[in-house]
Amino acid sequence: MTLPTLADLDVNHGDAVLVRVDFNVPLADGAVSDDTRIRAALPTIQWLRERGCRIVLCSHLGRPSGKRKSALSLEPVAGHLAKLLETEILFSPDTIGAGVEQVAKDLPPGGILVLENLRFDSREKKNGDAFAAGLGRMADIYVNDAFGAMHRAHASISGVVSHCSQQAVGLLIERELAELSKLTNQPERPFHAVLGGAKVSDKVGVLESLARRCDVIYVGGAMAYTLMAARGDAVGASKVEADKLLLAKRVMERCEERGVELLLPTDHVVAPAPDAAMDAEPMLTIPEDLMGLDIGPETAADWCERLGAARTLFWNGPLGFVEVDAFAGGTHAVAKAFAASSGFTVVGGGDSAAAVARFDLADQIAHVSTGGGASMEYLEGRELPGIKAIRDAQR
Ligand code: 3PG
Repeated sequence: MTLPTLADLDVNHGDAVLVRVDFNVPLADGAVSDDTRIRAALPTIQWLRERGCRIVLCSHLGRPSGKRKSALSLEPVAGHLAKLLETEILFSPDTIGAGVEQVAKDLPPGGILVLENLRFDSREKKNGDAFAAGLGRMADIYVNDAFGAMHRAHASISGVVSHCSQQAVGLLIERELAELSKLTNQPERPFHAVLGGAKVSDKVGVLESLARRCDVIYVGGAMAYTLMAARGDAVGASKVEADKLLLAKRVMERCEERGVELLLPTDHVVAPAPDAAMDAEPMLTIPEDLMGLDIGPETAADWCERLGAARTLFWNGPLGFVEVDAFAGGTHAVAKAFAASSGFTVVGGGDSAAAVARFDLADQIAHVSTGGGASMEYLEGRELPGIKAIRDAQR
């Protein structure tokens, strides 16, 4: 069954539309410090405004554990959106209830109301039906454009859907699915994937899925040291998930069985600790008292050359401790290799998306996903709860 999109909706001037967006953006000193996700939601908001809809936007921000936390209020985000759209935007400190329903009803055609952080109410994460019904009372039409949160079976993603009479995914989700499906649906070969980040346990599902589709998988970041330790290499004081060595072995065996080349770093930038940037130096082996904090220059040069031959390229996770410049060299080199590639390049959201933005290379990547966890679960082949809810409502 194809997923209903905005074009499938029966939308009339003055209709109320509840739009779930992912405005989970970084804030610094009470202001939005990276508005990529807000900008990504603009096409859907504009589409609805052009048709004179009354728009109620809802999102989570951070993880407030069901409590009101002023530092995680969506009010500054609403202010930022007002500036981007050059229009007045209403903000409601409540997420459900008679008061906010009335404010939504009184919106003029094309007017926008932003609700407070949904996760201030513990019923959001629990997918509580009364909370979902309260959200659903705000509008007859539900649009989900929160790609980054599609893997969460929460009230505003799952439960609310059946409380509205029409439902669709927005333009951002349409684009995300169209681009990410090129990785799962007969990708052009060779297909190379680069994975980094702290934990093998977080990436094991996607590693196994990529092992079924890729020709070469490169693993960097702290997770590489768990794989190296499982292989019997000396990793010094590097961060290793000691309880995941068997899992790491299984992943390596799976790659071997399938004839997938799994590359681990052959040299490393080492230091006594992540905050000891002054002592950082490249080494071929890691002495006992030092830890690997980035792939080394030889590895970076080798990987970048190999990536040049790939026609489909996917990357998720930093390859070193990028918070410190001395350990960001490998991540920067791979970002440049992706930017220079003439193949189809996709960067999964989260830290790797932040890295390509930091190196000012995002506009040279074919697709930078707005979803970290969501894009990983999509690639693992899992049905995202947000998609399932909309599909189920069509039956
Ligand atoms: C994200 O940033 O990946 C999404 O907004 C989901 O946030 P969560 O991991 O807190 O559910």
